[in-house]
Amino acid sequence: MAIERTLSIIKPDGVAKNIIGEVYSRFEKAGLKIIAAKMLHLTREQAEGFYAVHKERPFFKDLVDFMISGPVIVQVLEGENAIQQNRDLMGATDPKKATAGTIRADFAQTVDENVVHGSDSAENAKIEIAYFFTENEICKRTR
Ligand code: TYD
Repeated sequence: MAIERTLSIIKPDGVAKNIIGEVYSRFEKAGLKIIAAKMLHLTREQAEGFYAVHKERPFFKDLVDFMISGPVIVQVLEGENAIQQNRDLMGATDPKKATAGTIRADFAQTVDENVVHGSDSAENAKIEIAYFFTENEICKRTR
């Protein structure tokens, strides 16, 4: 299976709940390597740009308001099948529909505050990683 990279975000609710370590632990136990990471307080422009595909959706303004309500942690995860693996760890968008044991089932209550983001395709992973990280900020891990 191919080694992939994906963009992950611990959203403001996840940071506020003090579960950064818990989420990182799940990535690491699943064999995903963190190869870049930073804490950011997104500007409105950054959040709107990141979620531009949703700009016509009714939840767009609330989503942006939420994403700028506090700091986030963004990271690049690398590993076999990393994009789908991370989506599997996250669980469904709506925590009420998420499989037990996933991050969203365990730590989120509502679809609008669902703790984590993860790229949903190889094409989006590439775009989203470049949105937050320069090539120089992404580390090569040989072990
Ligand atoms: P989406 O890309 O559909 O989900 P995912 O984060 O699982 O890839 O939606 C992006 C975010 O928009 C989602 O994490 C939370 C928010 N959202 C809502 O607030 N209400 C909604 O009905 C949907 C579909 C998404």
